[in-house]
Amino acid sequence: MLAKLNLPSKLELIDYELFNSFNIKCYIKRDDQIHGEISGNKWRKLNLNIEKYKQGKYDGILTFGGAYSNHIHATAAVGRDAGIPTIGIIRGQELTTTSNATLKAAADAGMQLIFVNREEYSWRYERDYKELLRRQHGNVLVIEEGGANYLGLMGCTAIVAEIDIEPDYYILASGTGTTAAGVLLAVNSEKVISVPVLKKGDFIRDEISSLLTIAGLGEDEIAEKMQQLTLATNYHFGGYGKFNETLISFINEVYKDTGIKLDQVYTGKMFYALCDLVKKGEIPDGSTVVVVHTGGLQGTSSIAELLHFGV
Ligand SMILES: Cc1ncc(COP(=O)(O)O)c(C=O)c1O
Repeated sequence: MLAKLNLPSKLELIDYELFNSFNIKCYIKRDDQIHGEISGNKWRKLNLNIEKYKQGKYDGILTFGGAYSNHIHATAAVGRDAGIPTIGIIRGQELTTTSNATLKAAADAGMQLIFVNREEYSWRYERDYKELLRRQHGNVLVIEEGGANYLGLMGCTAIVAEIDIEPDYYILASGTGTTAAGVLLAVNSEKVISVPVLKKGDFIRDEISSLLTIAGLGEDEIAEKMQQLTLATNYHFGGYGKFNETLISFINEVYKDTGIKLDQVYTGKMFYALCDLVKKGEIPDGSTVVVVHTGGLQGTSSIAELLHFGV
């Protein structure tokens, strides 16, 4: 059984000098506190997929991820707690079950890790490949990389549904764009700022648009939604998993001033973007903002010595 989940997650007002000085009311949606391991958007994206698993006659769950995938870690933890066999197809034949803390945690949670080369990994969206995997591993429920599927998207709409204020902006970190698409689908007229953590983040606009198509929106509705979306593409710090001293000092400073823990892969970059957009006036004085804390704090264990908070 899954340990108790902190749902709905809390919405807290952030007392931070920068926001106060620009008269910005900034709240944080504490999805990082949903569960010790299955936190943030990982729970949101897995939730309805697990419901589907329970309703079907599946032999297990199979999913995909890279070396530092929070999704792999979270899926393995759900599998362990809910008694569901899990298989992870991992990009990189050179990796092992102990290559890093994320893969080790997944293996320790009982996930079967299968390491494939880059070419094979690139087949992950192909129907034939998924069929082949089902023939090899039984009737597994296949969940896309990062939980980026229809049920993942719909699970993320709950982030907005749980909030009873209507802010001017939502801001969140994006990898596949699924969480941003779910939030965008659920909002009324609020603007959504997605901060891609990968170098060439522009692709996320197309990803979000196709996810909204899958969610059943028509062309005009999608066009309207896309008007509400801003991609802040200048805050990737060199690309996925890359960081520098500026980002680390920023994460430490935010922790000192607010007690909020951020990670260097996702939420640190998002919060940095937020502060910069406030300073530049791109988020105007007097705005109300909801920051979605999408979790990912286990990823800080690889740089624990640089951070001023317990990891
Ligand atoms: C902590 C964290 N935040 C944000 C994201 C990005 O979410 P999405 O892939 O839905 O854009 C991820 C990855 O899935 C993540 O692990």
